[in-house]
Amino acid sequence: MHGMERVGVIGSGQMGGGIAQVAGVSGFDTVVFDVNASALDKCKGLHQKLLARAVEKGRMSQDDADAARKRIAYTDELGALRDSDIVIEAVVERADVKKDLFKDLSSVLSETAVFASNTSSISITDLATSVGDRADRFIGMHFFNPVPVMKLVEVINGLATSRETTDRVLSLSEAMGKTAVPANDRAGFVSNRILMPMINEAFYTWMEGVAEPEHIDEIMKLGMAHPMGPLRLADFIGLDTCVHIMDVMAEGLNNPRYRACPLLKQLVTAGRLGDKTKHGVFKY
Ligand code: CAA
Ligand code: NAD
Repeated sequence: MHGMERVGVIGSGQMGGGIAQVAGVSGFDTVVFDVNASALDKCKGLHQKLLARAVEKGRMSQDDADAARKRIAYTDELGALRDSDIVIEAVVERADVKKDLFKDLSSVLSETAVFASNTSSISITDLATSVGDRADRFIGMHFFNPVPVMKLVEVINGLATSRETTDRVLSLSEAMGKTAVPANDRAGFVSNRILMPMINEAFYTWMEGVAEPEHIDEIMKLGMAHPMGPLRLADFIGLDTCVHIMDVMAEGLNNPRYRACPLLKQLVTAGRLGDKTKHGVFKY
């Protein structure tokens, strides 16, 4: 059993927002923290919209949606996470930013609390060094986008993660309606080790003029039965996040074959990050 009632979430972007929504709907008292007030407002607005839609579609009663709304609190103060039994971090995919945050968090949380990161690729063993002697309670809890829809949580044990922490997090993932599957602590784990090179190759295919972006996506959708083509999916994930993940894998797996395609990097430099800026490979 997980023995958890209160879930803290750090970052109210697409992943943190989705994780908070699923936690609230699953009956956990949930607090979402973000440094950016407008991101918090946007997250709250999206929760209202998605819960209203679930009621409209008959997937949830009005009472359950109202109860879920009441269970989720939004804050710009890290201290508001102090009573959390677990905190799931979902900020930018950079080890330095995440480690600073976990260091601050370790002086806020109780001794028994669990630290989880939704990182897409960064070593859990490395991130766990930021919480001192509490690395046994540090774990990777990798959700998939869009969180309310996707069933998987990839669970990653760091070198020091205890068996008890793993069991509690596996049980928590199930209580959030997800299927938890373990993976070992190597850059990119299983999911992005396989997905990101495909996305990166789609950018090379475009850069080399093999086909137009729409045609690359159409071929992969119709030919491989993928729900989205790789370039549409890159926009959906965020092109900045794709570059960060490739950088982590190139460094962590010590292999230049994981270097981000120059065209992908160029779009990020131009501020074309995908859905979140309404322009990436495609315009929205
Ligand atoms: N939040 C909540 N629900 C959402 C949603 C969101 N952001 N986006 C879509 N949905 C729901 C819709 O409400 C809809 O449900 P109802 O019909 O019951 O209302 C359902 O999902 C299907 O949505 P749509 O009909 O609008 O669109 P669709 O059929 O094209 O499905 C999709 C949309 C689920 C996103 C689908 O295109 C898909 O599965 N795409 C691939 C997603 C994927 O590969 N995700 C993994 C990314 S990699 C990752 O996450 C790891 C990483 O570290 C980068
Ligand atoms: P995002 O850009 O949508 O959201 C990140 C949020 O974190 C922003 O709202 C930002 O204001 C906030 N933030 C940044 N620094 C902060 C700090 N120091 N303290 C508090 N809040 C801070 O990013 P995202 O797509 O939600 O990705 C977040 C994490 O989830 C990354 O590690 C990413 O690799 C991982 N992830 C992303 C996807 C995806 O498809 N986008 C899927 C799985 C995992």
